Amino acid sequence: MKPMDFRGRWVLVTGASSGLGQEMARQLARDHGANIVAVARRAERLEALKQELEPTGVKVLPLTADLQKTEDVDRVIDRATEGEPLYGAVLNAGITHFGDYHELGWEGFQRMLSTNVTSVVRFTERLLPYLEKQGEGGGVMLVSSMAGLSPVPYQAAYSGTKAFLVHYGCSLYHELQGKNVSITTFAPGGIATEMTEGERFNSLRSWLMPVDRCARSGLDGFRQRKYLHVPGVLYKLLATLSNVAPEPFSSSRVAAEYRASLAAAKRAE
Ligand SMILES: NC(=O)c1ccc[n+]([C@@H]2O[C@H](COP(=O)([O-])OP(=O)(O)OC[C@H]3O[C@@H](n4cnc5c(N)ncnc54)[C@H](OP(=O)(O)O)[C@@H]3O)[C@@H](O)[C@H]2O)c1
Repeated sequence: MKPMDFRGRWVLVTGASSGLGQEMARQLARDHGANIVAVARRAERLEALKQELEPTGVKVLPLTADLQKTEDVDRVIDRATEGEPLYGAVLNAGITHFGDYHELGWEGFQRMLSTNVTSVVRFTERLLPYLEKQGEGGGVMLVSSMAGLSPVPYQAAYSGTKAFLVHYGCSLYHELQGKNVSITTFAPGGIATEMTEGERFNSLRSWLMPVDRCARSGLDGFRQRKYLHVPGVLYKLLATLSNVAPEPFSSSRVAAEYRASLAAAKRAE
């Protein structure tokens, strides 16, 4: 298939109110001339994004939704597909828990599962047949994480949800061959966003990628319909090493770094 061409087309971005999603929405509009369906819970942030982007000549449709609720996901899909045709979707909204596994709690886990996994499956299984029917060569990008490529202690549940997305997205990639619609799985390492703002991440900040660079790389992978895309030389190297190093070795390195960061945050309390 030819690379995607976003100009003048509608692209839906979930989690467009902050961090990676907001930056990808910005770059899709500013650098690629795409119209944006911007989805998140914080309505005022989406409205501010509309005010920022529309003077550049694109259209922005803000849709406030809590993606933990299937009825909200369905409402967004209905609205996004009822007017001018949708060409692409970046399924980016996600939440994490960084700390001991038992702090997350059952309710916290349900929230994480519905946001990171269930909503993504719902969007994907409804949007792919729609995009295929449009016949425009559209596509979907799932935002997973390097935490989905190898186990991440102290983000155990999160790592599991992101591993689901890697397997789901990469499996569908093969199922879609010959169908004029594509799916890309994006797996960034740490990024400087609201997600990593807390004190617990203080000792890990030097590992974080600037959000604009990460967004640019992600959109490039999406445009080129990559199978599994890891941004940046350092993270590509780490992803390769995690494939060749014995898994308990690389995960124990992460555990040691994260344990130290959590201990430093506790001392600072
Ligand atoms: N930061 C990292 O180090 C990192 C690394 C690898 C992968 N990622 C992935 O990148 C994606 C974006 O994360 P980020 O770092 O940009 O985090 P962020 O700044 O915290 O942004 C998360 C976005 O998701 C939205 N969201 C969360 N729960 C939602 C819900 N129930 N309904 C609707 N929207 C919801 C938030 O909007 P509202 O709060 O307004 O609803 C926000 O726009 C996530 O999938 C994350 O797992 C992040």
